Amino acid sequence: MSALKDLVEQHKEQFLNELFDLLRIPSVSADPKYKADVLRMAEAVKDSLIRAGADKVEICPTPGYPIVYGEKIIDPSLPTVLVYGHYDVQPPDPLELWTSPPFEPVVKNGNIYARGSADDKGQFFMHVKAFELMQKNNLLHCNIKFMIEGEEEVGSSNLDGFLLANKERLKADCVLVSDTSMIANDIPSINTGLRGLSYVEVEVTGPNRDLHSGVYGGGVANPINVLCEMIASLKDDNLRITIPHFYDDVVELNEEERNALNSAPFEVEEYKRELNIGDVMGEKGYTTLERTSTRPTLDVNGIWGGYTGEGAKTVLPSKAYAKISMRLVPNQSPDTITELFQRHFESIAPAGVKVIVKPHHGGWPVVTPTDSDEYRAAAMAMKTTFGKDPIPARGGGSIPIVASFEKILGLKTVLMGFGLDTDDIHSPDEHYGVFNYLKGIETIPYFYQYYAELKRK
Ligand code: BES
Ligand code: MN
Ligand code: MN
Repeated sequence: MSALKDLVEQHKEQFLNELFDLLRIPSVSADPKYKADVLRMAEAVKDSLIRAGADKVEICPTPGYPIVYGEKIIDPSLPTVLVYGHYDVQPPDPLELWTSPPFEPVVKNGNIYARGSADDKGQFFMHVKAFELMQKNNLLHCNIKFMIEGEEEVGSSNLDGFLLANKERLKADCVLVSDTSMIANDIPSINTGLRGLSYVEVEVTGPNRDLHSGVYGGGVANPINVLCEMIASLKDDNLRITIPHFYDDVVELNEEERNALNSAPFEVEEYKRELNIGDVMGEKGYTTLERTSTRPTLDVNGIWGGYTGEGAKTVLPSKAYAKISMRLVPNQSPDTITELFQRHFESIAPAGVKVIVKPHHGGWPVVTPTDSDEYRAAAMAMKTTFGKDPIPARGGGSIPIVASFEKILGLKTVLMGFGLDTDDIHSPDEHYGVFNYLKGIETIPYFYQYYAELKRK
């Protein structure tokens, strides 16, 4: 397989052009105005799997956006790997902050700029291209099943149903996912955990209509002022979350685990410089690496109300809103946390306002093992192509389906992502390194080779 690097190099232009075709489709799952594009994207994924040589390729309907399935069973006695990815992307807004249009991919400074380039089109497509290479060059050592969904960015609410209804079809030995990041291009790492999520929207209502802020101001609750105070009270001086029982189920790491986590390469000065911030900020008693991976969070994602147009309008608004996310760690349950939040937030509202808490999607946190054959195969594959052993590192993001793979299918997942934290996923100017894309295509075939070898023993 030493020829793999050359094979990838030979097909470089083709691999890039084919990815560009996918990046041109604005498959934004959150906004119904893109519905036709999301469905067109599912067709494009299907076609790409067929061209790569997959069998039984099918667009499987769900109550939401469909799941694209395809497989190659070369020998039922060989191990089977279920590859998961998502073809939907986050909304591109705010559009004016993009240097080039989000759905017109371009390569600049060695990076592919486009919404979805890193999350997750560029990453799942590495698997399609790697499969095609293995298929055409007789290098495939495992059976492969592909499951590429279209609702990851909106919570994968139809996936559990799909897993339950397709247990037999999805039978495999492990799940392989590229939808996370590495520490750096010269410091490969494998994600060994994801945080869970509880996402809520709150609505605070004061007076029954917008009022003149001079005539009524000072006499009634201003829902925006109240909302800000309520949100501020959700953390104490040590930046610990004040919701009663919030930390009850949190697993604390022991000294050894904390030391291992904190020994990963990380430069706080570089972190500050890259983000242009004067200092880091977070829960007292924990390092930045811990705060962003093994500790739960509460963050306002958006807040609005009143007048935000040009100039000034003296108005005392009737309503204020906020979207709030809580990242969870083992063993916090998204449903329990949402309930605790709701109860607490309603209880701290002053009598002058009414509060409604609307739960959105959630997801369970996961920790993936490092002593499994699939982890070992991924580590050996990365070692082969990067020349360095990858570091196991817990990540801060969420991929809710990973917990479902374990709960419903009994499968462990290996999170072999090739992105970087600085890829600006979900942000303007999202990008993915050409190096990362090609390195992924080169590394994936080794995973199958080593996995088959380890499983044979
Ligand atoms: N690929 C990301 C998750 C991710 C990114 C994990 C980087 C680790 C490192 C995924 O597409 C994502 O954005 N997930 C959402 C959760 C979902 C329920 C909207 C998230 O983490 O906000
Ligand atoms: Mn993703
Ligand atoms: Mn995402």
